[in-house]
Amino acid sequence: MTDYSHRFKTLETNLVHAGAPRPNIGGAVVTPIFQSANYLMADEGAYDEVRYIRLSNSPNHFALQARLAAAEGGEAALVTASGMAAISTSILAFAGAGDHILTQKTLYGGTQNLLDDDGPRLRVAHTPIDTVNGGPSDWEAALRPETRLILVESISNPLMEVGDLEAVVAFAKRHDLITLIDNTFTSPVNFRPLEIGIDLVVHSATKYLNGHSDIVAGAVIGSKEHVDRVRHLLLHLGGSIDPNTAFLFERGMKTLALRVAKQNANAQRVAEFLDTHEDIVRVNYPGLASDPGHRIASRLFSGYGGMLSFYTGEPERAERVLSRVRIPLHAASLGGVESLVVRPARSSHLGLPPEARQKLGITDDLIRVSIGIEDTDELLADFAQALQFR
Ligand SMILES: Cc1ncc(COP(=O)(O)O)c(C=O)c1O
Repeated sequence: MTDYSHRFKTLETNLVHAGAPRPNIGGAVVTPIFQSANYLMADEGAYDEVRYIRLSNSPNHFALQARLAAAEGGEAALVTASGMAAISTSILAFAGAGDHILTQKTLYGGTQNLLDDDGPRLRVAHTPIDTVNGGPSDWEAALRPETRLILVESISNPLMEVGDLEAVVAFAKRHDLITLIDNTFTSPVNFRPLEIGIDLVVHSATKYLNGHSDIVAGAVIGSKEHVDRVRHLLLHLGGSIDPNTAFLFERGMKTLALRVAKQNANAQRVAEFLDTHEDIVRVNYPGLASDPGHRIASRLFSGYGGMLSFYTGEPERAERVLSRVRIPLHAASLGGVESLVVRPARSSHLGLPPEARQKLGITDDLIRVSIGIEDTDELLADFAQALQFR
C-alpha cells in the first residue's frame, strides 16, 4: 500500500516532502506522472473509490492533495481544474437554490461575475458586506434566514484590502455560517486562514502555488467533512485536473517558500519607492505603514505579499507606464516568478460595468503589479525610468 500521509513540522519542509508517496514509487525521487485514466478494480465499496482521473484519485492527485493539506494546516484537500472550479464548486456545495451568501465588497472579477451573472439563474442570492470599513452590526443587517456562507479574500484583488477576518470568523460562528476564503494572494507562506478558524480555503493555484505561469489549477483545503462535501459535487461537475498538470503543480509548490520570501521583499521595496514618487496618487500595499490594511495584516500575516496596485492619476499615464516598463510583462494573471503589470479595468474587472468599477475604486488609471523574483535594484530602476513623466 502506498502511503501519502506523512507530514513534517515546518511549512518549508512540508512544501518539499509532505504527502510524497512512500515507499517511493519505482524508487523515483519525485512523484512520476501517472498518465492513466483508469485503474484496475479493487473491490471498491463506494463510487468515489473507483480509481478514475475525474474522481481525483490518481497517485498524482493523492500526493498533491496531501501536500496542500499539510501546507495550509488542514485535514484534507482537493485539487481542481482551475481557481474558478474551486470557488464555484465550494460555493455550490454549501449554498443551493433558495440560499443566500454574504460576500466581501470587492472580489476577484471572475468570482463577482459568477455571483452576479449566474447566481440569479442558480437561485443563489448574495449581498456584499464591507469587511474593511464595516463591522458585525452592518453585516447583521444583511443576514437572512437562508444565509449559509460568507465569502472573503485574504487580500482583495485588485485593491489589496485586508478585511477584519477575525471578526468575520466570530460573526460566522455566531450565526452558524460557513466561512470560505480565497487565499490566492497571500499563499500559505504568508497566511494560513484555517489557523484563525476559517472553515474552507480556496486557491487559484495558477498563481503562487504553482508559480511559473504554465498551468491552470485550483485547490480547496479544510476539514475532511467540508472537503468531502466539495469533492462530492466536483465528481459530478467534473472540474478535476489531469496528472500532467498535477505534476507541474506539485513541482511548483516545492519552491513556494523561497519564491514568496523574495516576492515579499521585492514588493515592499517597490511599494516604498512608488509611495514616495511625486507623480503617483496612491499605492495600495498592506506592507506600507500608512495602508489601511497594515494593522490587521501585521497581526495575521507573516509577509505582506507580492501584489500591489497604484493610481497614476490619468489612464493615459497608466498606459504609458505599461508600455515603458522593460522587465515586467504586460499580462493578466499573477503570482509567477516574472513581474507583471496590468490595468484591472482592462483585464480582471473588465466584466464589471464601468460605474460599478468606479464605485469600488477600480478606476482606469489603476495599475496592478504582480512582483516576481527578479533582482530588486534592477526592478526599481526599471519602474523609475517608466515613471518619468516630466
Ligand atoms: C484572487 C483570485 N481568485 C481566483 C482566480 C481564478 O483563478 P483561475 O484563473 O485559476 O480560475 C483568480 C484569477 O485571476 C484570482 O486572482
